[in-house]
Amino acid sequence: MSEAGEAGRAAAAKGAGARAGGDQVYRVVVLASGNGSNLQALIDKVHGRPAAAGAPLVEIALVLSDQPGARALERAKQAGIPTAVCASASADTREALEATILETVRQAAPDLVVLAGYMRIVPSEFVRALPWRIINLHPALLPAFPGTTSIADALTHGVKVTGVTVHFVDEGLDTGPIIAQEAVRIEEGDTVETLEERIHTVEHRLLPRIVQLLAAGKVKPPLPGTRVVQVDWSE
Ligand code: GRF
Repeated sequence: MSEAGEAGRAAAAKGAGARAGGDQVYRVVVLASGNGSNLQALIDKVHGRPAAAGAPLVEIALVLSDQPGARALERAKQAGIPTAVCASASADTREALEATILETVRQAAPDLVVLAGYMRIVPSEFVRALPWRIINLHPALLPAFPGTTSIADALTHGVKVTGVTVHFVDEGLDTGPIIAQEAVRIEEGDTVETLEERIHTVEHRLLPRIVQLLAAGKVKPPLPGTRVVQVDWSE
């Protein structure tokens, strides 16, 4: 881990208290490509509220999408949250688009970036710019079933239990240190739709809780050379 990464680890471990000037607002940027039901859960459960008694206020400062028609953008607008669209049509190259996305996110000065149904691979520069400040929501128990077809893959494989993972984003694909997981049983006759519905129910509970814990400084990124994230679940 670089010096920047170490500084980021220490800052992330302190939650919002680590912000310059002791600002007691924890700024969250959400990246979403589609429906945004998890964004909605964040709007309903954490946006504009203290993360815990005596903890900073969580504010969703920006919702950014790579898809101009994403329902997530509508949800943000309805909640009065600023939005940005960085779509491939607006950039000459993929690199230019990724640079614009990173710059737009940085200008929002996030304490945390949440990938909630964001269908782009986050480039290494992005990860290095915001060490331990990017989390992803994944609809399987990683390291099983990474990628974009996890729910169907779990059904096809015939596993009896799948679930939800929230993890820090590193430079790999769905490989970052795991913050939290919750299991979902696969029932006889499940389809992608029925299983997805139960996974979403868990996601809508777990993701807001993890954002609150991060804002309250109750999630400690792994020590250098390790992968184990410490989470203080106490109320
Ligand atoms: C979620 O199932 C999440 O795990 C996956 O994409 C889905 C997004 O759903 N990465 P939504 O857009 O939040 O409804």
